Amino acid sequence: MMPASAAPSDELEYFDTHSAPAHLAAISTQLQEFVNLHHAHGRRVVLVSSGGTTVPLENQTVRFIDNFSAGTRGATSAEYFLEAGYAVVFLHRQFSLLPYSRHYSHSTNCFLDYLSEWGRIGEDGDGASSDGGDVVVRERYRAQMLDVLRKYRRAKEQKTLFLLPYTTVTSYLFLLREVALRMQVLRNDALFYLAAAVSDFFVPPDRMAEHKIQSGDLPGAPDTAGARADTTAAAAVAGMEAHDDDSGLGARGKKLVIDLDPVPKFLKRLVEGWAPHAMIISFKLETDPNILLYKCHQALNRYSHHLVIGNLLSTRKFEVVFVDKKADQWIRVPEAREGQEQVEIESLIVPEVVRRHDRAIGAKEAGEPAS
Ligand code: PMT
Repeated sequence: MMPASAAPSDELEYFDTHSAPAHLAAISTQLQEFVNLHHAHGRRVVLVSSGGTTVPLENQTVRFIDNFSAGTRGATSAEYFLEAGYAVVFLHRQFSLLPYSRHYSHSTNCFLDYLSEWGRIGEDGDGASSDGGDVVVRERYRAQMLDVLRKYRRAKEQKTLFLLPYTTVTSYLFLLREVALRMQVLRNDALFYLAAAVSDFFVPPDRMAEHKIQSGDLPGAPDTAGARADTTAAAAVAGMEAHDDDSGLGARGKKLVIDLDPVPKFLKRLVEGWAPHAMIISFKLETDPNILLYKCHQALNRYSHHLVIGNLLSTRKFEVVFVDKKADQWIRVPEAREGQEQVEIESLIVPEVVRRHDRAIGAKEAGEPAS
């Protein structure tokens, strides 16, 4: 998924030619406070990246390129890291799934289905009482919701979860760098778990259209002629060519050809510059099983970080492969028995990651070479 043509110096140029997210300085201060608090308590901190990134096609963005990721991997893993005693910086795509609320925010798990009116006999018979008007959790969901609620409250009380939203690939990269720099003080106690599906291509600012790209010509009245010229120029500037459509759908239809540049690879910079003492884990997503292991090893060799976790789009909830310098290790969820819920694969992934982090810290403290 990553293009090979971007040179290492492109990374620095990327930050020079893009605007940082608003309030970056304020976010940075809050991040440092969060990191310092947990550092003082000897608590490890993990950055979990989660969800897709958007690639805007216009400066005043109406359209953008996106990808499939809902943030399930990241949000679920964040919960298991919190359970394992880590503090979590959750760098996530805005409006993607969040730890804890994910149990009730998915469209197939509408939170309203978990509730009933106290005093009314629901379809399933729970909620029976005399007074009407109060909202209660249905009996059969109470135990699970109480468990989730307690964990959520504990994370809030202990201030162990820092939610950091992004939308575009650019804001993701600025924030990733900022978090990494703020986490440097943690040295070995810092972990990066990069589960986000980051875009590999973008429209550079000097080719970005300012206004909405038009799908057809604007009316040719004299007072709008200027607008039409602007529109055509905007498409050209964006590296997008509006061609007359030869599909037979109509003379006014246009094709939009989008010319994207490769996003520089920031993993190398993270490993060597921003977080040189941390344990760094990247994910690799493929759709073709025949190339998954090859791509994982290629990423490991290219970036010299600690671990690549490979997964296939179609089976990512059931199996992943851990690839490091020593071996490939598959992790698979056991088949659920009749009437039992499927185990979440993150409940197997995260403890294995924590074991490896323990080992890496132990080895460093013993002065052994990194494995
Ligand atoms: O959200 P879900 O629906 O649960 O899906 C989870 C997931 C499939 C998205 C997740 O498990 C996953 O595999 N995420 C990584 C997707 C991927 O293959 O990313 P990539 O090949 O573009 O990048 C690999 C690594 O390189 C990433 O960890 C990233 O940190 C890094 N990278 C990527 C792009 C870029 N410009 N610079 C980078 O350094």
